[in-house]
Amino acid sequence: MNNNYTFLGSIAKRNKHLALSLTLAAALASCSGDQQDEGEEVESAFNTSLSMADVMALVLEPASDVLWDSGGWVLDSAGYEELYPTTDDGWAYVRAQAAIIVETGNILALPERREDNDAWVIYSQGLSEAGLRAMNAAATQDKDEFFQAGAQLYSVCTACHQAYNPDIVNRFDDNAD
Ligand code: HEC
Repeated sequence: MNNNYTFLGSIAKRNKHLALSLTLAAALASCSGDQQDEGEEVESAFNTSLSMADVMALVLEPASDVLWDSGGWVLDSAGYEELYPTTDDGWAYVRAQAAIIVETGNILALPERREDNDAWVIYSQGLSEAGLRAMNAAATQDKDEFFQAGAQLYSVCTACHQAYNPDIVNRFDDNAD
């Protein structure tokens, strides 16, 4: 350490201009080097081998289906049947599914997955927000709020599909029928 300072100091004395240039060059090199390293690390830190279709069909849709199947009522031969969870464990389970949705918002917003830095990111964040709302509603076992969170979630799915993959919207509606 001390030796280095002495060495630099002696260069500076002999040639201030040279020392300054060297220092600047070193600073710039380390600066841009750091940025490159960080960029590479961030990119290689994520495993994005799942296709968008797989993320949708295997991660996001199953969790969302649990939420939609756990809110509201259905009319069957016996009359209206409430779909909401009836036990603490049941609410804990739907809350965990909602957590998957919160994190899927992040998964979609990854640099390698996002299709732009604009609407795509807003929809991804909207997914996380709807998921958080459902998590909170499940934690307080608030049925109305849970139902609203499910509706908000559905509108985010539809909005993003409309913007980025209109074919999916049609398939979605077919499925719902
Ligand atoms: C940020 C945008 C975005 C959001 C939000 C989004 N999707 Fe998607 N989704 C897509 C895109 C893009 C595709 C087309 C993927 C492909 O086939 O390459 C897709 C495709 C799908 C598919 C078809 C997958 C397949 O097997 O071909 C399903 C099912 C799906 N989404 C469900 C959902 C559900 C449920 C939600 C909401 C809970 C949702 N998506 C929210 C962008 C989004």
